[in-house]
Amino acid sequence: MDKKFTVAIIGMGGRGRAYTREMLKNPDKYEVVAICDINETRINDAKNDFGIKEEQVLRHEDDFFSKKRADICVVSTQDQDHVRHAIKALELGYDVLCEKPISDSEEECRKLLKAQKKYGGKVFVCHVLRYAPAFVKLKELIDSKVIGDVVMIDHIEQVYYFHQAHSYVRGNWRRREDTSPMIIAKSCHDLDLLQWYIGSECDTISSIGDLRFFKKENQPEGAADRCTDCKYVDTCAYSAVKGYIKDKFWGTDLITNVRPVTNEAIYEGLKTSPYGRCVFACDNTVVDNQIVTMRFKNGVTANLRMTAFTRDGGRIIKVYGTYGEIDFDSHNEFIDVRVFGKDTVRYNTKELVEHGYGHGGGDAGIIKGLYDMLTGKMAELTTLAASIESHLMGFAAEKSRLAGGELIKIEH
Ligand SMILES: NC(=O)c1ccc[n+]([C@@H]2O[C@H](COP(=O)([O-])OP(=O)(O)OC[C@H]3O[C@@H](n4cnc5c(N)ncnc54)[C@H](O)[C@@H]3O)[C@@H](O)[C@H]2O)c1
Repeated sequence: MDKKFTVAIIGMGGRGRAYTREMLKNPDKYEVVAICDINETRINDAKNDFGIKEEQVLRHEDDFFSKKRADICVVSTQDQDHVRHAIKALELGYDVLCEKPISDSEEECRKLLKAQKKYGGKVFVCHVLRYAPAFVKLKELIDSKVIGDVVMIDHIEQVYYFHQAHSYVRGNWRRREDTSPMIIAKSCHDLDLLQWYIGSECDTISSIGDLRFFKKENQPEGAADRCTDCKYVDTCAYSAVKGYIKDKFWGTDLITNVRPVTNEAIYEGLKTSPYGRCVFACDNTVVDNQIVTMRFKNGVTANLRMTAFTRDGGRIIKVYGTYGEIDFDSHNEFIDVRVFGKDTVRYNTKELVEHGYGHGGGDAGIIKGLYDMLTGKMAELTTLAASIESHLMGFAAEKSRLAGGELIKIEH
């Protein structure tokens, strides 16, 4: 009989919930036996939605880490807590599934790698796109050399205007002083994909970008600092009332503690929640646009453009090879292979997504992959050592951006 893993999860927010949901779909492979969170609403949600029992709940990390409770520890707390929690888990002998970013400091990333080598547990980082079928298909096509050798990649990360407003203007990742810079918080996925596709370490990097739009000076004449009080509530593209109630943007469970979440409860919540603030009257400091230029050790060059200002989300990746091009659009769900002198071959990537849609199937994919990697059925992806590479790129890109675009050589 195949092994069944027991799982303990610290951080039952959006990500902890997503992984629990996927594990519950595979009861022959996983059993969630303990959770830890400091937020009573999140604990109640876990009890109600996933059948977690009171005796399985811990409310303080010291209690959670007082002993080993399972085979796998999922660390899905906030960015600044990952390394502390993952080291405690490794000390207890867990294998760890750790949310990205690993940390916003190189020193901490290296500290975790050292701890992993010392205690011997495995650490997989949640670069979920590497497990998402469409992104895997692109990797297969590149590796098949259907377009010859890769010369250059042009990668656009479409953050999408309301996601920017939710996470990086009003929400958790809005202030560089308290959390990771945007290039780490959002784009470590993209930097990870680039070095995976290119198959080489990044050698030099430079970056420019800034916070252009979500600032007080761009607030429309007569606008209020809260959407519920604002005369533009029905017409502003960034209106929280419109976004969360009419357009049903996700994350409404952060706005109200009322369950089930109703439109009335969201509206009431927006009167006091950070998510009800005018996007031009927040305390945000992270960028809303950034360009990163890279040269890899194997000579391949790449360009990443991260922008808040898109109507849709997803990634557009264009790969230039010596004998053809590949165009990938994750939002419109296609990959076009355009070999020189031949007709375009189109792959409809929607047909590839077997597991569900969280991150294009990446959330389900990483949970399936975690099982296969731990049981030796699949080569290990997104190991800690491999994942640190994208973080080194991100740290160097941010250093360059702050220095006005200086070219930085990455020390590996
Ligand atoms: N892999 C991805 O694609 C992806 C996507 C979004 C977010 N993330 C990352 O996942 C992490 C979690 O993001 P989220 O959106 O779930 O955030 P969240 O705020 O919804 O969840 C974090 C949870 O941790 C809990 N928590 C905080 N401190 C704690 C402590 N000391 N002990 C126990 N619980 C504690 C909070 O109460 C909260 O419920 C972040 O680091 C984020 O950057 C990854």
